[in-house]
Amino acid sequence: MAFLPIYNCYHPTMKQSTEDVKEIDGDIKKLVDDMFETMYSADGIGLAANQVGISKSLVIIDTSAATNEEDPKHVLINPEIISFSDEENEFQEGCLSVPKFFENVIRPKKILVRYWDLKGKEHKFEADELLARVMQHEIDHLNGILFYERLTPIRKTLSKSKLNKIRKGITKPDYEMVY
Ligand code: NI
Repeated sequence: MAFLPIYNCYHPTMKQSTEDVKEIDGDIKKLVDDMFETMYSADGIGLAANQVGISKSLVIIDTSAATNEEDPKHVLINPEIISFSDEENEFQEGCLSVPKFFENVIRPKKILVRYWDLKGKEHKFEADELLARVMQHEIDHLNGILFYERLTPIRKTLSKSKLNKIRKGITKPDYEMVY
């Protein structure tokens, strides 16, 4: 396994939509292993493949640091959100591509998501609370959307100078970052 450098949110790769995974081969399995190692060493709970510069529709999640889930590791291949609850909640988010920046985001509380696992099995999964939150954040990455784009207008304005420092590399993470 290897640590993969994490791409900064302003890197052009982060704004591109990702391509579907067509075959779950050894390269994909190795990528998943490397992404877990990268996420754990950077203290994250979710990571999308394009955050390590691979423009494929793949995310990994492990919320065990924050929940008591029995099986906290999730690998979502070609995920798609089929439906969102009307009910919303507000929660503070962060992102390994947006170092040292945390802001509250309003999102639907529950989602129904369809994805494939590493064995090629299709799942339809109803996620709630933190897991629904992380899945929405990560699937946004696959569509080129960063969480600060979902802030309320006033929070966006108030975040400008912090985000500028992240863009210029003045605010740096404790791990290797690609600009
Ligand atoms: Ni993120």
